Amino acid sequence: MASSVVVASWMVLFLGLVMAISTTQVEAARAFFVFGDSLVDNGNNNYLATSARADAPPYGIDTPSRRPTGRFSNGKNIPDFISDALGSEPTLPYLSPELTGDKLLVGANFASAGIGILNDTGIQFINIIRMYKQLEYFEQYQRRLADLVGYDEAQRIVSNSLVLITVGGNDFVNNYFLVPYSARSRQFRLPDYVRYLISEYRKLLVRLHDLGARRVLVTGTGPLGCVPAELALRSPSGHCDPQLQQAAALYNPQLVQMINGLNDEYGENIFIAANTQQQTNDFVNNPGAHGFTTSKVACCGQGPFNGLGLCTMLSNLCPNRDEYAFWDGFHPSERASGIIVDMILNGSPNHMSPMNLSTLLALDTMTRT
Ligand SMILES: *[C@@H]1O[C@H](CO)[C@@H](O)[C@H](O)[C@H]1NC(C)=O
Ligand SMILES: *[C@@H]1O[C@H](CO)[C@@H](O)[C@H](O)[C@H]1NC(C)=O
Repeated sequence: MASSVVVASWMVLFLGLVMAISTTQVEAARAFFVFGDSLVDNGNNNYLATSARADAPPYGIDTPSRRPTGRFSNGKNIPDFISDALGSEPTLPYLSPELTGDKLLVGANFASAGIGILNDTGIQFINIIRMYKQLEYFEQYQRRLADLVGYDEAQRIVSNSLVLITVGGNDFVNNYFLVPYSARSRQFRLPDYVRYLISEYRKLLVRLHDLGARRVLVTGTGPLGCVPAELALRSPSGHCDPQLQQAAALYNPQLVQMINGLNDEYGENIFIAANTQQQTNDFVNNPGAHGFTTSKVACCGQGPFNGLGLCTMLSNLCPNRDEYAFWDGFHPSERASGIIVDMILNGSPNHMSPMNLSTLLALDTMTRT
């Protein structure tokens, strides 16, 4: 079952940002919290009994140690580039035993490969950290932080933090479209399913706000029908799969609309949306403009487009990862992740709504006390 591979939605969006260091006081970088699926998992699934993990070579081949880290990348992933922009160390997986003491001040990564907005997404991966559980862990984290620095300071750290949430792709790829006549596709027509997902996603965002998050970067889904794994399964001709493309086309604008509605309700720009579809379309349609030789063939894999099955030691492996938009069948290469984060930081209103991450961070630096 090829899509039991690793999962994920696929390139998405993200955030990041440059934290200016104030001239009068050198503050620690703001804390960074990450929620979602394999696009942003820094290794939580290494601690779980699940098949959705990236803990074997050649994952991590372009890290300094050349060893797998649990990230679904040859090197850095999207959260890592955002951490760089914040001037921080990468976030540790919440389940890592190293996440204690001062490391808690950096933030934490709660993401888990295979999960979706819905609890029934990714059931084939058995033991993964579903969204409601990620949010419970965030509460638990805040209690541990308060034990370290006191309740008021813990609250301040959380409200000044940056949050990234990347989820939703799996609700299509590893749920609705996983098999023909899936339970959800018998229950909902696609447009109704999308509306249901958005209404459930809204509850997750409200919960994040209730838990103290005040700057939240929300990514949409990429062009789901164009990833190498879906081309291999559904489209031998290499044209993006129309059903999955339609899903992304319905979902992304409604996500932005929902986020704008929440910001209006709160009277503040709590949430910023990254239009990952636009961002990733840019390199799917024109890989050469970004220095890629292909956006259809994965660097690591086998079968058509290297999109079948998992990326393992036995797979084809491209010699130059920087020429590939996709590292494996679902996930961007390190270089593509860096380009996505650059768009999140510096993108025009086409890419980022209502503002880009640099602008948001600069505003906060001016108004924060
Ligand atoms: C997912 O499961 C949790 C725990 O059982 C439950 O509280 C939550 O409401 C469920 N979410 C959805 C969207 O069904
Ligand atoms: C986005 O960020 C850059 C700073 O890197 C800024 O100069 C630019 O004006 C912003 N773009 C928009 C459209 O807000």
